[in-house]
Amino acid sequence: MVDRGACTPVPAAHAPPAGGRMRPPVQEEVVVLDYGGQYSQLIARRVRECGVFSELLPHHVGAAEVARRKPKGVILSGGPSSVYEPGAPALDRELLELGIPVLGICYGMQLIARELGGRVEGAEVGEFGRSQLTVAEPGRLLAGTPSEQSCWMSHRDTVFAAPPAFTALASSTASPVAAFESVARGIYGIQFHPEVVHTPYGQAVLTNFLEDVCGCERTWSASSVIDEQIERIRAQVGDGRAICGLSGGVDSSVAALLVHRAIGDRLTCVFVDHGLMRKNEAAQVIAAFRDHFHVPLVAVDASDRFLARLAGVTDPEEKRKRIGAEFIRVFEEEASRLEGVDFLVQGTLYSDVIESGGGTGAATIKSHHNVGGLPPDLQFSLVEPLRSLFKDEVRAVGASLGLPKRLVWRQPFPGPGLAIRIVGGEATRERLDILREADAILQDEIRNAGLYRELWQSFCVLPDIRTVGVQGDERTYGNVIVIRAVTSDDAMTADWARLPYDLLEQIASRMINEIRQVGRVVLDITSKPPGTIEWE
Ligand code: XMP
Repeated sequence: MVDRGACTPVPAAHAPPAGGRMRPPVQEEVVVLDYGGQYSQLIARRVRECGVFSELLPHHVGAAEVARRKPKGVILSGGPSSVYEPGAPALDRELLELGIPVLGICYGMQLIARELGGRVEGAEVGEFGRSQLTVAEPGRLLAGTPSEQSCWMSHRDTVFAAPPAFTALASSTASPVAAFESVARGIYGIQFHPEVVHTPYGQAVLTNFLEDVCGCERTWSASSVIDEQIERIRAQVGDGRAICGLSGGVDSSVAALLVHRAIGDRLTCVFVDHGLMRKNEAAQVIAAFRDHFHVPLVAVDASDRFLARLAGVTDPEEKRKRIGAEFIRVFEEEASRLEGVDFLVQGTLYSDVIESGGGTGAATIKSHHNVGGLPPDLQFSLVEPLRSLFKDEVRAVGASLGLPKRLVWRQPFPGPGLAIRIVGGEATRERLDILREADAILQDEIRNAGLYRELWQSFCVLPDIRTVGVQGDERTYGNVIVIRAVTSDDAMTADWARLPYDLLEQIASRMINEIRQVGRVVLDITSKPPGTIEWE
């Protein structure tokens, strides 16, 4: 995640009253139309960080759909095309006539310029990366920002002349018009990317647009959706009963808690312990849900069944398939024991919704991943209370609901668990125990060093090889543990984490001293690409 930390806080006057029931959130929304830019999701997130709910819609939804939503503003994202390319995503002219303020970013700005009679051309040189912005006239959009500032650009075409009756606000080395506005028409444009961390005044510019131009109150926060969601869940489920597959991850945990708040004991959670979890994790999930939150919980210790299914299997895809199939079997068995369940709770996130067809209510095929690949023919209606939230917002909701920090901040953990970290070999109980102990030491040390949240994932891998060593004058022939720790924004790309040498030494020494079967510890220094995060 890009952490900019620069967002101005929501003014106290707009914050929900402390204590008591929060007032229902004001339904103000800013729509981001996605023209295919790599930062489009980030724009919606930044808008939300400013206290305004925002959704990303495909650019082709059209002015009528936008108008139906009655947004306070519309943002046109960047995109990879040139406005002159045949078939380049177009601007629906009517969008500019709705009387709703519009802000075009990069490609979005170029579309506005071309549509309204400005001049857009391919520049001699593109402008990629950090650039210097000179503000000639701050206008409304750049008000309060310095006359010289750095910003992040990523474009080849650029605006050479603003449309008639528009004010050119700023320029950069390669962009004669890097920002423009027409206050009278409520149309604004910037060539730079306000949403990325390398544009220090980006959030200030977005705030100007949201507050001064769109008149937003900025009252939205992730936790302000709690009451609204509870109402929605009640309306959807009525007197019915729901079931939720808990995985121990933050998404299913938060979804389960929200639904429990809404319908109480008419929710039953099913936690399938496949024996492939990290040390103590199963116990922590059970303790949190059953003992602390008093959520009706069926915890199934199915480790024997899973291990039996994995006997003799070394191929990673075969492991995944068998674990997935067994998971469905166990879950269905448990579900069939419960009477009158019509609803299945899933922790589908907004990023899943976008990836599987956009936020227009398209089917969410990916949502089934959340409970380990449940088949679509399960006879349940889906309850997905996190459909509008990004991951960090889900964590905020989890924290507001009192979910223990360990669960709120848990790093992603694959459904097939430790089985796919025993590489090239069979996932036997003995090997799982070795890997689990090594992993526990790694987690322990990384948490103690205060690095857990900085890492996207940190884990151990146990390859099916032995190496020679010497301990106390004796030759040993032990297992190898690989340390894998990566930083990442979204798991699509990742960099190996530069863990401090002293920490690595401490980890290696503990693993070898405390786990008899471990004879050697190595560090994986492969990024993704070319490697993947997991080894299998
Ligand atoms: P890779 O290894 O492809 O992993 O770089 C990207 C992210 O996906 C997770 N992962 C899985 N998650 N079932 C899951 O639920 C799987 O089979 C699986 N394989 C990889 C991985 O941990 C990382 O976060």
